[in-house]
Amino acid sequence: KDDPTTPIGVFDSGVGGLSVYLHLKTLMPNERFIYYADTANVPYGGKSGDEILLLTLKAVARLCKRGCKLIVIACNSASAHALKALRERCSVPIVGLVPAVKPACSLTKTRQIAVLATRATLNGYLLNDVINDVAKPQGVMVHKHFEPTLVPWVESGMPIDSQVANLLIRQTKQWADMGVDVIVLGCTHYPFFKEFLQTFIQQENPDVQLIDSGLAIAQRVKSLLDFFNIASPTPNTAPMQLYATRLDDDLLATAEKLSGEPFIELINYDE
Ligand code: SIN
Repeated sequence: KDDPTTPIGVFDSGVGGLSVYLHLKTLMPNERFIYYADTANVPYGGKSGDEILLLTLKAVARLCKRGCKLIVIACNSASAHALKALRERCSVPIVGLVPAVKPACSLTKTRQIAVLATRATLNGYLLNDVINDVAKPQGVMVHKHFEPTLVPWVESGMPIDSQVANLLIRQTKQWADMGVDVIVLGCTHYPFFKEFLQTFIQQENPDVQLIDSGLAIAQRVKSLLDFFNIASPTPNTAPMQLYATRLDDDLLATAEKLSGEPFIELINYDE
């Protein structure tokens, strides 16, 4: 745990957490990373809180066994249902994600924000705590929406097609008509269509802002490494290791595309 050369563990239900990994590796080029994708069980978004809790505990126990010095739960659905339990059980720091409602409340001028996330995230205690503690006292209305097709689409590694494009455009227009001026991408899979949506918004609704939690999480990780004095002092040269619970044919290609890594060491973690 106190050895600075041990890796940082990053967990997600699938490849979506690579959007967080992109920020982590940019901000912390000295660090070695193990990414754990529970591809046998993705998507988590429609599962019960108890099921998500068990899967997340299992994944994090495996990352601890690999000697990770800090673990990032790069999945809003898993954080929503397992963060408290993980922090009680783990001896290493655990960083989780909650949709960026707090920064959205500071940014909104209309006091109307939207959160696009999975059903599990929208129902979880983390988001509802931040709505009750931060949004409600400021009189900010939070419009919640889930769209079950988006996670499987990102997992497939396919480029944006007209079906996904229409769905995103229709929903954005609906929110803009309601007066929403900040849209929170509340799932780590979603930054992979952020650029597309941003381009559309710039043309049609330039007053609407799009935010996610990736950079803030990476900054939090960096400050924890410094605080615990466990940051690696020398540049990392090892490839990112990707542990996956199911190896689909195109998993490696999708992961390399989304992470920008030319070489990932892929390891099957099926027991
Ligand atoms: C999913 O597996 O459904 C998405 C996970 C997330 O909320 O980031």
